Amino acid sequence: MDPGYEPSYSPHFVLSFMQKSVLLLLLLVSLSSCDSQVSVENKLDQGMVVSAHPLASEVGRSILLKGGNAFDAAIATNFALAVVYPRAGNLGGGGFATFRLQNGGYGSLDFRERAPKDARRDMYLDSLGEVVPDLSKKGPLSIGVPGTVEGMVQLHKKYGKLSWRDVVAPAIELAEGGHALSPYNAEMLFRYQKEFHEVNEDTILFTAQGWLPGDILYQPALASTLKLIAAEGRDGFYKGITAKYMTESINDRGGILSIRDLKTYEAIWRETVRDSIGEYTIVSMAPPSSGGVAILQLLKSYMMLKPDKLKPNSSEYIHFISEIAKRVYSDRAQYLGDPDFVQVPIDSLISEAYLRKRMAGINLNTNSSSADIEGPQVEVIESHETTHLSVVDENGNCVSLTTTLNSNFGSKLFISEAGFFMNNEMDDFSAKPGTPNQFGLLGAEANAIAPKKRMLSSMSPTIVLKNGQPHFILGTPGGSTIITNVFLNILNLIEHDMSPKEAVDFPRFHHQWLPDVIYLEYKLADSSLISELSLKGHDVEIWNSIGLQEAIYINDSLEVFGVHDETRGEGIALGTKEMNPQP
Ligand code: DON
Repeated sequence: MDPGYEPSYSPHFVLSFMQKSVLLLLLLVSLSSCDSQVSVENKLDQGMVVSAHPLASEVGRSILLKGGNAFDAAIATNFALAVVYPRAGNLGGGGFATFRLQNGGYGSLDFRERAPKDARRDMYLDSLGEVVPDLSKKGPLSIGVPGTVEGMVQLHKKYGKLSWRDVVAPAIELAEGGHALSPYNAEMLFRYQKEFHEVNEDTILFTAQGWLPGDILYQPALASTLKLIAAEGRDGFYKGITAKYMTESINDRGGILSIRDLKTYEAIWRETVRDSIGEYTIVSMAPPSSGGVAILQLLKSYMMLKPDKLKPNSSEYIHFISEIAKRVYSDRAQYLGDPDFVQVPIDSLISEAYLRKRMAGINLNTNSSSADIEGPQVEVIESHETTHLSVVDENGNCVSLTTTLNSNFGSKLFISEAGFFMNNEMDDFSAKPGTPNQFGLLGAEANAIAPKKRMLSSMSPTIVLKNGQPHFILGTPGGSTIITNVFLNILNLIEHDMSPKEAVDFPRFHHQWLPDVIYLEYKLADSSLISELSLKGHDVEIWNSIGLQEAIYINDSLEVFGVHDETRGEGIALGTKEMNPQP
């Protein structure tokens, strides 16, 4: 063989002294350029993990302490959530991760579920073309092809530092060794007993007497599945016995998930949606999430058009933002869908020229009726159970990851031999697009059901940079409210000079175009505010609480603070050093 064609890994490859010197030089140059990306002065004061469950955050922190990077920690935390937070943490669901690399690059991974190959656009309609209640929400037909495991495998392959087994191991331990149920998780398992029984046979999770706080939940079947995943990677889930258990449990009950659907599932690397506002850069999730586009539409419109002296959470402020939100959510319904099936005009939708035109009809004093805002006139119907985690390591790698089964415990269908719930993500498609609604208008074609298509999402894992440095990593559950929640939190921080804790604690509100209602958190249920909004023509509804931010804040001195939404739910921030107090 001509030595010129000798592969460089050949044991016969011999370097001359000259070649060695050149290589050494190259190595030194490349090391020094790596160093400059992770130089000591650019190191953060600590790594941090924030998630909705203390045991999961603890797993993430232990991985960072073991020398894992933010990706390792995010993956391990996510697997731990599948064990200790079964209403939203999952193996049988999907999600998105947005990340920023220590060298300054960005990226995102779409591990959203997709429709099975046998899905049909009218699969939830009866012979009269009416939507059959609950068919897309509960049980076997509501299930999309799960993406979480493949997502974790891909994230790890590309960016992980520890071994795959190391990052899956803590979840196996939690499933096998058991964990004490928190009060809220015990209540949730108890509250859903009836629906579990409707969809499944009895299993360990569905005892007649229910569960109490402090009860130990052992999950041996889940531990076995996690062991298979640890040993075989994606094949431990998408092939073999786990695939058999999933397809049999689902299809014996009338579902359509095939072995082929599982085998061919792919996670997709996507360009992030990002734009700058002053010194800040917002990096968020692209379609099939509507989050990145909608958050940038909201932020840019607000910044361009804000009237003077707008006081946060005054009636003028809530009215103005609701008017912007109506137009943004109407665009969402009209234009957003799986980019592999429909063309989404991202750049136009977030351009200043378009937004100026789109927002032109806003009157600062009066509600513009949602019915008068051009759009497909379909309601944005989403449920409210998901979970978010944020991680940063000392080198500045950031991962913002949101995952879901959609509803609490997803479809409620539990794969008992494998120990996990399946999602009901098919409900995020519009079940009846193209059919005139009660106003005679056409529905959202962009999000119609099609085989292998991903359903539109609102999940918005987001990273805010300040002068190029990571500044705020955030995300939340909350279905359609995720978008306004992330937007309001960013606005509180970068526009209203609130501290991160004030920004996250601050009472929230939400408008999503249809229904034409402003939702206020109960902390805003003040009679004078409500009557001022009514005078402007708004209907108002009071909600207990909106979302659950799990955020990380990094100040200009590179100190890292965990910002868990402590007034709204369980969860915890854990740093690798002593906890800095919530700022
Ligand atoms: O992808 C979506 O937008 C929904 N399936 C998310 C559901 C959700 O956030 C429920 N959470 N609290």
